[in-house]
Amino acid sequence: MAEFLFVTDLDHTLVGDDQALLVLNDRLQKHRQEHGTKIVYATGRSPVLYREIQQEKNLLEPDALILSVGTEIYLDGSDRPDSTWATILSQGWQRNLVLSKTAEFPELKIQPNSEQRPFKVSFFLEQEASVTILPKLESELLKSNLNVKLIYSSGIDLDIVPYRSDKGQAVQFLRQKWKFVAEQTVVCGDSGNDIALFTTGNERGIIVGNARSELLQWHNENPANHRYLAQNACAGGILEGLTYFGLIE
Ligand code: GLC
Ligand code: MG
Repeated sequence: MAEFLFVTDLDHTLVGDDQALLVLNDRLQKHRQEHGTKIVYATGRSPVLYREIQQEKNLLEPDALILSVGTEIYLDGSDRPDSTWATILSQGWQRNLVLSKTAEFPELKIQPNSEQRPFKVSFFLEQEASVTILPKLESELLKSNLNVKLIYSSGIDLDIVPYRSDKGQAVQFLRQKWKFVAEQTVVCGDSGNDIALFTTGNERGIIVGNARSELLQWHNENPANHRYLAQNACAGGILEGLTYFGLIE
């Protein structure tokens, strides 16, 4: 068995089946001790909401944390976001302009304060309205020369972030830093903000059995041998995928 870089989303991916999570944690912990495998969480949550789930579910201490949909990277337990990554994202990012442009769309309901971050502006947007609003919003923002990316997840969450950021690009940053090849990297997810994890490179991908329709649809339209759609939900699906790829026994 060789070391690998393990990257997982939290809500409805790592977390959601407490029994399976116990088993997976045990396997990962041992793999880290014996082979130097690295554990990374990649979530849309802010630091505040991350700490909540970390304590509630007693999650393993990760080797790095990707928070706020890839706009913040925390290394080695630091409570300060990595400044190299922040510098990359700050180029051309105009948060105030994003706020004033989005204010013209009454369908966008601002998320709680804790989820508004230096490089992330987040709203709730109903699925039904999203079909017409998202293309309009995108073209408005582009017209203002705003280099941003819209990430829509779970039929409700809309994140607006700098063009150069998402969970996938944050993983590339870590992969280069730690020198893991794609074949020794595995990414796991269940919803729209995880699509970027599966598109950036040739990493092994695990889609858990309970994945949301937006991810399943994307997966069906972009089939790839290095991606596995699990039968089991959440941590059970991750265990299934890690075995499928031969990363664990
Ligand atoms: C988490 C965040 C929220 C974000 C969502 C999707 O729930 O708290 O701000 O919109 O993930 O990325
Ligand atoms: Mg999720």
